[in-house]
Amino acid sequence: MHDTLRINGQRLISRLERLGEIGALPGGGCCRLALTEEDRQGRELVISWMYELGLQVSSDAMGNVFGLRPGTEDSPPVMTGSHIDTVRTGGIYDGNLGVLGGLEVIETLNEAGIVTRRPLCVAFFTNEEGARFAPDMMGSLVYVGGMSLDDALATKGIDGQRVGDCLEQIGARGSEPVGNPDVHAYVELHIEQGPVLEESSITIGAVEKVQGISWQEFCFTGTSNHAGTTPMRLRHDAGYAAMATGSFVRELANRIGGDQVGTVGALQMEPNLVNVVANQASLTVDLRNTDNDRLKQAEAELLDFIERLAEREGIEVQHRTLARFDPVPFDTDMIDCVEASAKAFGHSVMRMPSGAGHDAQMLARVCPTAMIFVPSVDGISHNINEYTAPEDLEAGTNVLLRVLLDLAG
Ligand code: GLV
Ligand code: MN
Ligand code: MN
Ligand code: MN
Repeated sequence: MHDTLRINGQRLISRLERLGEIGALPGGGCCRLALTEEDRQGRELVISWMYELGLQVSSDAMGNVFGLRPGTEDSPPVMTGSHIDTVRTGGIYDGNLGVLGGLEVIETLNEAGIVTRRPLCVAFFTNEEGARFAPDMMGSLVYVGGMSLDDALATKGIDGQRVGDCLEQIGARGSEPVGNPDVHAYVELHIEQGPVLEESSITIGAVEKVQGISWQEFCFTGTSNHAGTTPMRLRHDAGYAAMATGSFVRELANRIGGDQVGTVGALQMEPNLVNVVANQASLTVDLRNTDNDRLKQAEAELLDFIERLAEREGIEVQHRTLARFDPVPFDTDMIDCVEASAKAFGHSVMRMPSGAGHDAQMLARVCPTAMIFVPSVDGISHNINEYTAPEDLEAGTNVLLRVLLDLAG
């Protein structure tokens, strides 16, 4: 093993900051929604770095991008990576760290003249966030054959645009096939996006599993009417139904307990005026739990609540599942490898679940997979104030280096 080898933290941070300039928001953070012009520019920059590092670059029909570094053996690669799309109010680390950390490892190996036995591959996957097009992790899901390419390309976003058209528009549609990848192992470096590591004063998280995710959308249709003249008993108030659902979701998450969380993150009302009872209201519900039975219970209770509410209020409801993924356990040998690598550097390390969704949970369907987490200051993410200290970025990327060397031989 190359025990004294270290990545260059300053170089990693320069790349994170440079990529963060694309879609930069006033006050910090960035907005690089999937398949937008900003995403195109981000892709172009990262691909240019891949070429500079001598990687063989390819992309598939879903716009997932791969930078391959051949090994001495022509065998399935050890893959690392993540995503470079962001939510509308994103930080510069979510996803980007996994991709640019991978490139930093490649540059470190290039400088040291090390050629691994197995090839190494740094990937970034299309539309991980799901903020514009649901489901989230769409690119990696299609890559592993969990969603058909046609269904993904036909998916309409919150702005009515289709994934396939947007891929064409930004020139991101590649030629490699999807659905049956041959990958030796996958490891993804990511910020934690929650408070656990920081609260425990621990530098590295060895991620054991990702919690299950359920995204639902409800559209209520009632009757708009005068806010002053319509007696309460005669209302068919779609806005009330949406708000009652919102408070039910919170009560539900608290009642189910454990690590159940529930969020209404998007809510629209029509006509959205002070003196008109709303005739239309739509909202999204995000439910997550590491325990699939409890997650199913939460989903069932939510549907039951909505059915009874709609009947009582005399309103129509349309329901759509936007995303549904079971909890995903990672590979025990891979988790051990992450833990051992952290310890080899003298870093404190703990095993933990992931609260957020990640491309790694899709790759886990086709190869041994694990993740490396580093702390998020104040547990903040999906927020322009998302921040991870330079020494933690560096620590996580050194752990990634060591894990990749271990796996690639
Ligand atoms: C995606 O980033 C999610 O976990 O919501
Ligand atoms: Mn992410
Ligand atoms: Mn995210
Ligand atoms: Mn995510």
